[in-house]
Amino acid sequence: MIRLQKMNAENIKTVAVIGAGIMGEGIAQNFAQAGLSVRLIDQGKDILDRCLHQIDANLSLFMEFNLLRENPSHIKARIKPFLSMDLTKAIRDCNFVVEAIPEILQLKKDLLTQIDSLDKEVVLGSNTSSFTISQIAEGSRYPGRVIGTHYFNPAHIMPLVELHKGKDTRDEVMEATKALMLRAGKMPVIVRKEVPGFIVNRIQGAMEREIDYLIDDGVVTPEDLDIAAKASYGFRLACMGPMEGEDMIGLDTAMRVSGQIYKTLSHKITPSPTLVDKVEKGELGLKSGKGWYDYRNRSQEEVKGEINRKLLQQLVLFNSRRKKDA
Ligand code: NAI
Repeated sequence: MIRLQKMNAENIKTVAVIGAGIMGEGIAQNFAQAGLSVRLIDQGKDILDRCLHQIDANLSLFMEFNLLRENPSHIKARIKPFLSMDLTKAIRDCNFVVEAIPEILQLKKDLLTQIDSLDKEVVLGSNTSSFTISQIAEGSRYPGRVIGTHYFNPAHIMPLVELHKGKDTRDEVMEATKALMLRAGKMPVIVRKEVPGFIVNRIQGAMEREIDYLIDDGVVTPEDLDIAAKASYGFRLACMGPMEGEDMIGLDTAMRVSGQIYKTLSHKITPSPTLVDKVEKGELGLKSGKGWYDYRNRSQEEVKGEINRKLLQQLVLFNSRRKKDA
């Protein structure tokens, strides 16, 4: 049995990222950019190679936007790949681990049991999108050290990390994790109650349900819906949050509009038939070459590169505003 010492973010020098997929890649890069040594862990050498290759490309783009304080090769040198069968060796020097393995509860619980069995003093952050920490840590020998660290895709660019506790998560684990995220340049927010989907995925879920309805009912085309969102509330959101927005509208007006519109909104609890139909046809979006749009004449790298470029332009502006607001 280990004795969990008082956590202190300043003492965290080496972290592990378990799962080198879509999310692990960005999380590992972010920690390395913050000067931490990173152990990047996955099941296959090919997965680790692909991830490191993508991090090279990400760092080049960051350099182009003047977002690095040091040479990309120095940042990259801090990331060491490990195979998951070498977990004991990989996390030997770490006192903070983030898991970004698939969203399957049993997989996450098994990993936790495996880490528990190492009797190593380490905090475990879970990047789960939908499970509560109490669900994941149920049965763990050390539930007090498990915390939700919910990053957003692409994790090397998006500033937010939602931090959420389970019923046993210790306060000092939350404090140390928050301090670590700030050190890594992220903007942590604390979710104060255990709710599935936390804050942002709940908001997104509510919007997606209505979007599905508008598309299914023929109110708008997917193309026009994207324009409407980007040119209106999406345009505002990066500089004015929903609560600031309501203050601008006037709470009396917001109340009257809500009173009219809410009763007409979708209350469906199942995904839209159009969405289900697309999934059944294998139209899964960028990863399958077709979703709402057709990407078959472009590579995934090209499309992602174009989006990341736009996001980085926003990040530069966002960071300059953050500095002024601080
Ligand atoms: P992914 O499927 O791209 O990557 C998962 C990686 O974990 C794979 O490379 C797999 O080989 C590896 N893996 C599986 N079991 C492992 C083990 N025992 N040890 C080491 N590696 C293992 O998944 P993705 O999308 O990165 O999601 C990871 C987590 O992040 C999930 O919990 C997901 O819900 C969450 N998340 C995903 C977001 C997204 O946009 N994809 C956004 C925010 C959170």
